Amino acid sequence: MKKPAILIVDDERNTREGLARALRRHYEIHLAESGMAALNVLDAHPVDAVLTDLRMPGMDGLTLVRRVLARDPQPVCILLTAYGNVETAVEAMKNGAYDFLTKPVNLDRLEVVLKRALESRTLVATNRSLRQQLDEKYGMEQIIGESGPMQAVFDTIRQVAPSRATVLIQGESGTGKELVAHALHNLSPRKKNPFVAVHCAALSDNLLESELFGHERGAFTGATEARKGRFELADGGSLFLDEIGEIQASTQVKLLRVMEERSFERVGGVETLDVDVRLIAATNRDLRVMVEEEKFREDLYFRLNVVQITLPPLRERRDDIPLLLNSFLHQFREENGRTLEGFTPDALEALNQYRWPGNIRELRNLVERMVVLSRGDKITLRDVPREVREGGDGKKTSGPLAGAVSMEQAEKRMIEQALNDNDGNRTLAAKQLGISRRTLHRKLNEFGLR
Ligand SMILES: Nc1ncnc2c1ncn2[C@@H]1O[C@H](COP(=O)(O)OP(=O)(O)OP(=O)(O)O)[C@@H](O)[C@H]1O
Ligand SMILES: [Mg+2]
Repeated sequence: MKKPAILIVDDERNTREGLARALRRHYEIHLAESGMAALNVLDAHPVDAVLTDLRMPGMDGLTLVRRVLARDPQPVCILLTAYGNVETAVEAMKNGAYDFLTKPVNLDRLEVVLKRALESRTLVATNRSLRQQLDEKYGMEQIIGESGPMQAVFDTIRQVAPSRATVLIQGESGTGKELVAHALHNLSPRKKNPFVAVHCAALSDNLLESELFGHERGAFTGATEARKGRFELADGGSLFLDEIGEIQASTQVKLLRVMEERSFERVGGVETLDVDVRLIAATNRDLRVMVEEEKFREDLYFRLNVVQITLPPLRERRDDIPLLLNSFLHQFREENGRTLEGFTPDALEALNQYRWPGNIRELRNLVERMVVLSRGDKITLRDVPREVREGGDGKKTSGPLAGAVSMEQAEKRMIEQALNDNDGNRTLAAKQLGISRRTLHRKLNEFGLR
């Protein structure tokens, strides 16, 4: 088989030649001493990977990466940087570089990174024609939105999904952070490997540690058997750390170390384990504020925040509300075998006006309830719960109808409300609910309401 071709770009001859010597056995090597020279080489010899220094006279590595990635076919780019320039390297990853290594280069690490980079490239190439389908099937099709802010989110997802850059997803509750995490994984060459999620808030500090890193037998009381942690389980794939803002100081330190060294030990273990994991973190807190308040380590924040995706609250992308309403209507109509035609204009108006403090989750739940409870052939203003119709600051709806109440509870609430609205007059209440007086009567008995 033909050796993969690599272009090494560095203004220092010693580095160039040292790297060439180390890689010659497995790769076809090309050399360039500047960014411009590199572009000339690429015109003559398309390569599979570009390994470039960051700081060079003339065109710097960052600019070179940008120009290389604008070409076709695209080699993978790996940056070499002095320790103090990590920020710029991170910037390069935002621009599509695959990874970076700090100087002096550890040759073993370089081999590993190169190998993975080239594998990811083969996958990306074979998948390119499938990209469209992938996009539709497992990636972004699930994420509804056509507004400007969502288009920007989609662009970032497409751009960063293929690399192994760490992504921090921020946004209020219910804005779709988990959907985005899945899309990032499903649109990456890691897709066929595991997507492992950890809900950091759900576990105590100690438990979280052994959950993440695993433990050896006898590491603590109750550890009767050795167990793999989520980092190990996610090897080759993606690890999703949900609610990252909730992790305690000692776990923050450990996490930072894994991110810096890409290796760790199981709790109670001595063997150092090496894994290839892409980290995706999410939080509904403002981590920067937490850093200022010294509740979150700044160095960890910096490591996590390589690429940031901030999901807008629904009230800041109101253009998407009708689209979301209709999509969920279709979905739940199908599921419930209903033949609803749509929303009446006044119902739509009320739903458009509402503040949606629970964001898409709240909207989705509400559409489901309305589909199930509505009695006509359209969803009318009557089907819209009073809290939503009356709007206000929307805070009240984080109560009974916004949370995870059962259908039965929701129905009961609506009936109580209708009775209340009509001073206990059942005929009027039934009319408001769009059901017959008899049905209302039956439901009152069912729910034990008087
Ligand atoms: N843009 C969207 N298109 C379609 N469905 C969405 C969208 N955003 C969110 N949802 C749906 O809303 C619900 C909540 O989404 P998700 O769990 O991703 O939110 P989250 O940001 O992780 O919230 P939390 O901070 O509470 O965990 C899910 O049912 C999800 O499928
Ligand atoms: Mg979530």
